[in-house]
Amino acid sequence: MQVQEISLNNFRNYKNLQVLFNPTTNIIIGKNAQGKTNIIESIYYAATGKSHRSNYDNDLIKWEENYFSISLTAVRRTGKVKIEIIVRSDGKKIVKVNGQVIKKLSELIGTVNAVLFSPEDIMLVKGSPSVRRRFLDIEISQTSPFYCYSLANYNRTLSQRNNLLKSIREKKEGADLLEIWDQQLVEYGTYIIRKRNEVMEKIKNIARDIHKTITEGKEELNLLYKSSINENIFLEKLKENRKMEIMKGITMVGPHRDDIVIKLGETDLKSYGSQGQHRTAALSMKLSEIEFMKIETGDYPILLLDDVMSELDSGRRKFLMESVKGKIQTFITSTGIEDVFGKLQERSKIIEVKKGSINILQEG
Ligand SMILES: Nc1ncnc2c1ncn2[C@@H]1O[C@H](COP(=O)(O)OP(=O)(O)O)[C@@H](O)[C@H]1O
Ligand SMILES: [Mg+2]
Repeated sequence: MQVQEISLNNFRNYKNLQVLFNPTTNIIIGKNAQGKTNIIESIYYAATGKSHRSNYDNDLIKWEENYFSISLTAVRRTGKVKIEIIVRSDGKKIVKVNGQVIKKLSELIGTVNAVLFSPEDIMLVKGSPSVRRRFLDIEISQTSPFYCYSLANYNRTLSQRNNLLKSIREKKEGADLLEIWDQQLVEYGTYIIRKRNEVMEKIKNIARDIHKTITEGKEELNLLYKSSINENIFLEKLKENRKMEIMKGITMVGPHRDDIVIKLGETDLKSYGSQGQHRTAALSMKLSEIEFMKIETGDYPILLLDDVMSELDSGRRKFLMESVKGKIQTFITSTGIEDVFGKLQERSKIIEVKKGSINILQEG
């Protein structure tokens, strides 16, 4: 799939922006704080309905304005698609796919599939379990609207259940009310755990192969989904934990407590690996995401590489570029062109960003 064009109004530091993209590689260069990531963010937002760096849509509205809009056109194997989003400062959000207003974000998901690789992803190995859960959730949500919908329901149920636990603790509500929340939590939660396990089984093989190639056969990457709860005893466990949960005011088991274990051979990478090994594993996992989406949807996603080129050494950079060459439309940000890109830059579109305006240096 390829993004052809994007138009922005009042998005971050862009008053008006209209860019046509190259179907292969787009390099966005500029000094710090000029608006490179903002372009990546706008594409990601159009694809997922969310920003990767803010939970508040209002942050994305240009200061002193009261709305932003994004319009994006792309071509998929199955034809052309158009996404239009308007967000107003009063919280109103209108999303259209091919001219039709949609009601749930899960209906937007999958229109444009994007894989984002940013410096935070280097933290996939070292970071907290939530980083790894998010990796799986974003990946699965983009290929399964039902997962996206279920996850939203699970999270809502979880937060309502946690509020109820606190109210019970403060004697404002009776513990019998928990029954229906427990049922719902188990229903959505079980589906989420199953789906994550199923997807993990697929991507672990892809990631292992990629990792083997990058390390020239030296390392074996083993990924494993580790759930905080066995689905058969989920409901039982909630009952068993009830007293403790009321005391703490939180739900102690469920997919929101799960993790991915990352090993090299039999060794836990998080505790023992070098920084270089962490980076390679993160790269393998990200690249496996691309292949997984291709298998699930029949189309390659687009790849957004925000500031990662400088984080990777030349060997890994080369591997990354070789893997995407000719088949995946890529958007890369960097502070300079230099030798980071090598031959790649000859055929790329090069867009220079300066204080929220762009200048095309090369059409590619
Ligand atoms: N809502 C906003 N309105 C106007 N400018 C913004 C807004 N949010 C961020 N900016 C500006 O955008 C710039 C950062 O853009 P970014 O794309 O992150 O930079 P970089 O080129 O380093 O990737 C900063 O100058 C910041 O002040
Ligand atoms: Mg940036």
